[in-house]
Amino acid sequence: MHQAVKPQGAAGVFMGWLLESGNAQQNRATVEALEPPPGASVLEIGFGPGHALEMLAKKIPLALVAGLDHSPLMVARAKRRLNGRRGDAALDLRLGEAGDLPFPDEKFDLVFAVNAFHQWPDQERALAEMAGVLKPGGDLVLSIRDFRVEGRFEPAGKGQQTARRAVDMLRELGLQVRQREIVHSPRRATFLVRGRKCGRFED
Ligand SMILES: C[S@@+](CC[C@H](N)C(=O)[O-])C[C@H]1O[C@@H](n2cnc3c(N)ncnc32)[C@H](O)[C@@H]1O
Repeated sequence: MHQAVKPQGAAGVFMGWLLESGNAQQNRATVEALEPPPGASVLEIGFGPGHALEMLAKKIPLALVAGLDHSPLMVARAKRRLNGRRGDAALDLRLGEAGDLPFPDEKFDLVFAVNAFHQWPDQERALAEMAGVLKPGGDLVLSIRDFRVEGRFEPAGKGQQTARRAVDMLRELGLQVRQREIVHSPRRATFLVRGRKCGRFED
């Protein structure tokens, strides 16, 4: 399997470093836009080296930092990284599949994924699982990168198409959806797709 989809072995260690530097700008911009309330429980799907979770825990005091990734290498690496670097928050990083989340319903105030949604084999199912573990009133955020010029990794504009599909899927699940575009440079941008789960007493 492609190393970016499931980092493993010696090449996976190298891929971890590449993800860390290549996605740093997108992770920083995404964390700046995430606004969980202090004391929140947050969950990241496909956390890779754990950079976004670390930055988020440094920015806001959290009760629980949780995550799921299907790469044992990335789970081990993110655990090492977050040891002692998450304030007072509890830590729960698990090995697993995005389409089958081993967390209780309505557990999290915020569920998010950075540069991972496009890799999931069953995106509808994964989003339904993410919406299920979200508390009413909580946010599901997908951070999707877009290359503005033809490059080595993917065709220009592919991220925008992926973001459009994500918006449709989240609406289908009954979430209130907003989309924001962050332009990093003439070459790169990030789409932030945010779906809010209606509160218990809202229509
Ligand atoms: C491109 S990396 C991005 C990592 C990190 N979010 C970042 O921005 O640096 C995608 C991550 O998602 C994980 N992943 C991909 N498909 C997955 C799936 N179906 N279930 C769980 N994790 C998955 C990979 O193991 C990898 O760590």
